[in-house]
Amino acid sequence: MLYSIQKYGVLFLCVILSRLIFLIIMEIHQIPDNIIAQVRKLEEKYEVMGQDLSSYLDGLLYANYLTYWDYIHLDTLLSLQSPKTDFPDEMVFITYHQITELYFKLCLHEMHQLANMQPDISIFVDKVRRISRYFRQLVSSFTVMVEGMEQAQFLKFRMSLLPSSGFQSVQYRMIEICATDFKNLVAKDFRRQIDTHTTIEEMYEHVYWKQGATELATGKQTLTLKQFEAKYSNHLIALAYRYSDCNLWRLYRKYFPDNEAAKEALRELDALVNVDWPLAHLSSAMRYLKREPADIAATGGTNWQEYLPPRFQKRIFYPDLWTAEEKDEWGKTWVIQKLKG
Ligand code: HEM
Repeated sequence: MLYSIQKYGVLFLCVILSRLIFLIIMEIHQIPDNIIAQVRKLEEKYEVMGQDLSSYLDGLLYANYLTYWDYIHLDTLLSLQSPKTDFPDEMVFITYHQITELYFKLCLHEMHQLANMQPDISIFVDKVRRISRYFRQLVSSFTVMVEGMEQAQFLKFRMSLLPSSGFQSVQYRMIEICATDFKNLVAKDFRRQIDTHTTIEEMYEHVYWKQGATELATGKQTLTLKQFEAKYSNHLIALAYRYSDCNLWRLYRKYFPDNEAAKEALRELDALVNVDWPLAHLSSAMRYLKREPADIAATGGTNWQEYLPPRFQKRIFYPDLWTAEEKDEWGKTWVIQKLKG
């Protein structure tokens, strides 16, 4: 007993002494008070984790200064564009797809944060507007695709990329799942059959995108769709369960039902994701593919002309926030003009 009191007493004295020495050294070297305060805070930080600050300071001493190129992994980033053909415009195609995926990542980043907090109204509106801002960038930059490639090159290199298609973008589907109740992603002809007992697996059987990527000639599912489902169906169903009570719609209903700012932010997002972007995207499909039947084969001969137009899909995240007339007009320029006006 006496021994351990002595032991702790000695230890205590050592700590006090080392602090005193530290202060004296700082004083001798005329180290500014703010630096001393910062070192103290660091000491506390590392002490809590049982770490020795001195070793970390050594690490800091030997570490190189951070550069821009290392921070953003520039070399890796620029090594990720690997065209499959020698047509120069394929570089435009692949790079713009990657840019889009990065914006999708940012959208999901905001959705994920919202799902994991109890947002107040300003945070909710701010984050929903951020997602809209990313989509607005994507809508306006789509000219990179629509006007930025030679059609003759496109039709050739596109054949080398089959059966892959932007259709297989899982982040695009994830954004939809995090934005709304899964029932709103069911193909419009099946929505009426859904009731409170319908499971997500049952709804998934009729999810709208199963109606795309269908072979025009045979009406069968394309390999594009089969590959996508084999890789992602389980993941998407699990995500739908996870977000069934924290998607953007659920958060709005739970925390700020009928709040005008929240309503406007959601309506804007709905129109951007489900009308503006699909229309911008559709114009690129029209520009490159709507020519001869042989050209259309560049998609693998899919039903894209019936499938892609938003007025046919009528995909609406927040049907309760639109009037019957607005829903009737969905996908026609009227909805967008009304929002802008
Ligand atoms: C010249 C440019 C483009 C053309 C001609 C084009 C063409 C098509 C076509 C024909 C489809 C229908 C599915 C199929 O037949 O494969 C499709 C679907 C899709 N594409 Fe593109 N696309 C282009 C650029 C992009 C870009 C840059 C993205 C960004 C990721 C993208 C994402 C998508 C998505 C998410 C779908 C599924 C849409 C839905 O299910 O409603 N596409 N695309």
